[in-house]
Amino acid sequence: MTLDELKRQAAARALEYVQDGMKLGLGTGSTARHFVELLGERVRDGLKVVGVPTSEATRADAERCRIPLTTLDDLDRLDLTVDGADEIDPDLNLIKGGGGALLREKIVAAASERMIVIADETKWVARLGRFPLPIEVIPFGLAATRRAIAEAFEKAGASGQMVVRKGPDGHAFVTDGGHWIFDADLGQIPDAAHLARLLNPIPGVVEHGLFIGMASVAMLAGAQGIRVVERPSSRNQES
Ligand code: A5P
Repeated sequence: MTLDELKRQAAARALEYVQDGMKLGLGTGSTARHFVELLGERVRDGLKVVGVPTSEATRADAERCRIPLTTLDDLDRLDLTVDGADEIDPDLNLIKGGGGALLREKIVAAASERMIVIADETKWVARLGRFPLPIEVIPFGLAATRRAIAEAFEKAGASGQMVVRKGPDGHAFVTDGGHWIFDADLGQIPDAAHLARLLNPIPGVVEHGLFIGMASVAMLAGAQGIRVVERPSSRNQES
């Protein structure tokens, strides 16, 4: 089975959690796109849901699939967000942002009662950090922001190369919010929650890809089937 087929299986499993009338956060990336497509099939069969997309790419996919959309300005809370991840650790802490949508993804996940992460099993890691950590930054004052981030890494016992992400045109990749992204190749992050707390207050850092205590359930698709991992403690504990 290909990785893409595994991603679709994880997405299909998450669909079982969707109920009529739900307000849904729609994630970004190749796995989340499978969820959007499968959800679209259910909507065409009569399921009544409304979605908030986490990127312009997902908005386009959802519109193509005829999923009714709204915004967080018109809703109080979302029932459920389904999204992919770049890495998932045993506490269901995540690295996200490989697709550059981390800011909207985190806003939408934080506005949701539950977040289900869908992934193929290659995303499961004992400790976060092998995937370069995306950090969304304001281009103004970039060198100062970079220095502050490097200090945060040092305090958190992490180190590694940090590069500005490039787009296909060779220029800096620009997020949906008009920001840039540093990708920090840390290898491993000793304490992801600690690093998140150090990155949060840095001026110039708009958001980072550490999602701490936000995911409730992970659907991990592998050759042996789908493993459903629940996070027992309550959610939205990032500080
Ligand atoms: C988008 O910004 C990311 O957070 C994605 O959710 C993450 O990169 C996983 O993407 P794939 O499902 O394509 O692996």
